[in-house]
Amino acid sequence: MTSKRRAPVGAGIGLRLPHIAEIVATLPPAPWLEIHPENFLANPHATELLLEARRHYPISVHTVGVSIGSAGGIDRAHLRRVRALIDSVDPCLVSGHLAWSTHAGEYLNDLLPLPYDEDTLRLLAMHIDEVQDGLGRPFLVENPSSYLGFRSSTMSEVEFLGELVGRTGCRLLCDVSNVYLSAHNMGYDAHRYIDGLPVEAIGELHLGGFTPEADEAQPGAELLVDTHATVVAEPVWELYAYAVRRFGRKPTLVEWDNDLPPLATLLAQAARADEIAVATLAPSFGRAVAG
Ligand SMILES: [Fe+2]
Repeated sequence: MTSKRRAPVGAGIGLRLPHIAEIVATLPPAPWLEIHPENFLANPHATELLLEARRHYPISVHTVGVSIGSAGGIDRAHLRRVRALIDSVDPCLVSGHLAWSTHAGEYLNDLLPLPYDEDTLRLLAMHIDEVQDGLGRPFLVENPSSYLGFRSSTMSEVEFLGELVGRTGCRLLCDVSNVYLSAHNMGYDAHRYIDGLPVEAIGELHLGGFTPEADEAQPGAELLVDTHATVVAEPVWELYAYAVRRFGRKPTLVEWDNDLPPLATLLAQAARADEIAVATLAPSFGRAVAG
């Protein structure tokens, strides 16, 4: 029997509650599924279905509630709840965001930005150590979708992530869509961002849809908002091929959280990710590029 702990290299899909019964009933051909543990902690029926799905698919756990960037520290009660779910699911990957989302016991429904400086590095390194110890698993840190930066930052996001990897042994989840939209919003080069990430630390890739909105701060300008409510944009597929060339074929997740489409749409997006990864790494592609 294949170990559920081994992360498959193919493209999986996010397992969202409206699809879970259909997935368990029809067992569509997905190499793995990713969940937000917070969707299951107070939902025993969904957890039952999750454990049924887990008999057929490796599961990745992507927490949105473990706030590694909170100055007030990690919510240990929440960490224990996530650990209990992890122990029953035995996931192939465990990840979360380079962000903060809690303050003084309040949970904010957002992933908020951090200044990239030495103080933040020390805080996050301490928190990642605590999370990895508390969950008993390596933790993958995901690059955020960015809309603003801090003047007080003393290093780039890529430098910050590289330092975190060196200090904690954590790995990285490169959300290719986040790289694309943050590069657009913040005015940097998406390809150079990919070039700067430590290849050996990349354990997973994400792809999701974004929505262009008018930028109220700059009339006439457009902000790309990480809505996870639509298909992956064409330029993101191109950046994905670039990321696959640099990182190799990695477990890739198509994530969709709002205006959820039929399951078939998600599976088609995942199939496209697989096609692009295979074509990108095919020997003929290398020859075509070299030629
Ligand atoms: Fe993501």
